Order: sequence, then structure tokens, then C-alpha cells
Amino acid sequence: MHETPESDGGRSRSRWTREQAASIERRRGNIAPPAGAPELDPFPDLHVWDTWLLRDRHGEIADVNGYRLAFSLTAPADLLPGKRHDVAEIRCFYSADGKRWHDAGPVFDGGALGQRQWAGSALYDDGEVYLYYTAAGDEAADEMTYTQRIAVAHGGTASADEDGIELSGPWTHETLLTPDGEWYETEAQSRGMTYTFRDPWFFEDSATGETHLLFEANAPAPERPGDDEATAHRREFNGCVGVAVSESGDPLSWELRPPLLDAVEVNQELERPHVVVADGRYYLFVCSHVHTFAPGVTGPDGLYGFVADALDGEYRPLNGSGLVATNPPEAPFQAYSWMAFAHDEEVLVQSFLNYYDFAGDSLDAIADLPEAEQRERFGGTLAPTLRLALDGDSTRLRGTLDAWRIPTPDEPLPPADDSELPGGDA
Ligand code: FRU
Repeated sequence: MHETPESDGGRSRSRWTREQAASIERRRGNIAPPAGAPELDPFPDLHVWDTWLLRDRHGEIADVNGYRLAFSLTAPADLLPGKRHDVAEIRCFYSADGKRWHDAGPVFDGGALGQRQWAGSALYDDGEVYLYYTAAGDEAADEMTYTQRIAVAHGGTASADEDGIELSGPWTHETLLTPDGEWYETEAQSRGMTYTFRDPWFFEDSATGETHLLFEANAPAPERPGDDEATAHRREFNGCVGVAVSESGDPLSWELRPPLLDAVEVNQELERPHVVVADGRYYLFVCSHVHTFAPGVTGPDGLYGFVADALDGEYRPLNGSGLVATNPPEAPFQAYSWMAFAHDEEVLVQSFLNYYDFAGDSLDAIADLPEAEQRERFGGTLAPTLRLALDGDSTRLRGTLDAWRIPTPDEPLPPADDSELPGGDA
């Protein structure tokens, strides 16, 4: 096994190793309760999936004249759920109480980069909205492509009155980052599953004042002389958490830096990386799929996490294995795209309801079901919010809140009820 982290100009890169990942298992404290069919679906005409909140530079959820804003990938609900990624469009929702949400409509009216827009993050700074997103697909191509680059839209403003929020342009769209081929794999270098270069996440470190953009990528892991076939194949699974810095703090000017963490020989996709700082520690969360683990390592669709004493690392997997939260074994694809954020003394985790009524162990089987069933088994709205306790290198689910529940600052939450949490392994 080749598990020595590569060295990046003096800094030794953190790695999620096969040995650590070998201890991934469902256990009490990491399994969400069965969610069942959506109890609350405020936008039944839309598929809603990856979602993020408008925040200020310090990571606080922004307050725009009494409203908080969420951005989501959306598609018309009559579309087959599996096709939604091909037409994803970013919409804005807003809420005054963090319970009842309203649709402010699609954010861009043309002009966005890429053939379609995938996940990102949103910064509210000096009254201006910066929307970081993934420009997916090459807009100059006739056919659909899977090129990914990190883009921003800026110049937009949010105005609020008693009728709600209006988000208006004109937006200026810019490509911010593309893979360099040394730290970050390009599409041409990719040997295995589709490469990734997406999901930008703004993070300013209050301890150092440094401004960062985290993203999902792949670290080049070419076949080496002497590699046997199995090792060469395992190295095709090379997910990493990428990072860029803005020396001046300017939200529009970024330079790539070496990855914060990689998962070479462990997993191909470390999705939607984001950080929660608690007790002076840096909790780095990613989402990943059962089907993106390398041969010989198994793990469910889940929220995985790592902890370090500084943003640069060195990172240790939470709970020894990295697994923080997953779905119950009878509904292993119930939720996905978890996003953790601090609330008071605990962490809340928002996600979307995926195939909540499907017990198979691979989503490939979904495509074989009649179309009506594919739609019926898919949530396409937000899942119940999870409550998570952090304790040093360990985490523990504490219970749930309603779907679409993003409590207002300082809002006291009811006592956590962990009796609904499944207890066992499977
Ligand atoms: C996670 C994800 C993101 C991507 C989006 C595309 O759910 O794969 O990485 O931005 O979905 O729909």
C-alpha cells in the first residue's frame, strides 16, 4: 500500500488512508432515522437538491433585512430525477423565520457560464452578493460535456421589503479557477470515473484572517513504474479537497494552493467540502457516495469529516474512520449533499431528500424502474435537519429537526431527542 502523503512544498498533505477507511461502519450516532415521504414540500413543482445559505465573510448566516437566503440547485419536478443534473438551475429561496420558505425565482436570467450550473456557496459582503458556482459543461460545445470550472457571479443585490426578497442583477460572470494539471487533475489527465473540479466554498479563517475558497477536485495519481494492475486501478480513485487563497481578501481574485487533503486509493469524490470551526478546531466535511470508493474499501453514501488544529491540517478522520452521518440501511439513499453549520453550541446538518423509498444497494437499479416509480421514490425537497454534537475527534447525532428548518440566530432549540435514532449496525 502506498499511504505516505505526498509532500507539497514543505507541507505534508493530509490523506484519508485505506486503513482509516477500513473501519467505516454504521453505528448508533451516525445513522439518521428513516425519513419516509416528505412531510413538508413547499415547492412541489421543483426538484430541489444541493442547497447553501447566504453568509457573511465570517461565516455567519446573513440577515438581509430580516430574511435569510438559501440557494439551491433546482429542476422542474416533471423531469426524471436522474436527469436533473443536466439542466440544473440555481434558485433563491428566502425565509424570515427559518421555517417557511418562499421562492424568489431563478437567480440568473441567461448569461451564466457553463451549459448548466452546479453547486457552490454565496457571500454577502458590503451589500453585494457573490455567488460562487460550478460552470458545468462547455457552452461552446453542441453536445453535452462534463467539463467543470469554478465561476462567480457578482454585482447582484438583494432588496427586501414586507413582500419579500428580490435578487437582481445585472450579474457579471467570471471563471475563477481551472485545474492546473499538477495539484489538480484536468479532464484530459483523468483515468477513471469523470473528474471533478467543482463546488466552491468561501471560507475566511478568523484565526489568521486568510481568505480561502475550498472545492472538490482530484489529485493527479498517475500509474507509477512497478505498480501492479490492482494498485494502478486503485489510484484512479483520487478525490481531494482543493483550496485557493485570496491574499488581499478580494472575493474575485484567487490563486491555487495544494490540496488540503486527498483520498488517493480511497475515494474518487469528496463533494461540497466545507468547514465548521468549533472549540478552535477545524472540522472539514465532505459528502461521498458508496459507488465512488476504491476497490477494497466500502462506505455508504454519507457525510464524512476530518478535524485539524489549523485549516492547513494535518487532518485526522472523525470517529477514526471519517464517517459522520449516513442513511439507515433500509433506505441507504434517503438523503445526500449534507451541509453542516454551527448553531449555538451544536452543529446542524441540512441535506436533501433523495431516493427515500429504495432499499437496493446501488442506484443503478433505479433507472430500471418504471418512470413513475422513479419519481415517486425521489424526494426532491429538503430532508429533516440533523442535529450533531462535536466532541474533539468524535461526533454523535443527537436527533432531528423538521425539514427546511434553519433556526434564526440565538433561537433556542427543543431538547434533543436521540430516542428516534437507529441503534445498530448493518
Ligand atoms: C452533489 C453534486 C455536486 C454537484 C451537484 C450536481 O450532490 O454531485 O458535487 O455540484 O451534485 O448536481
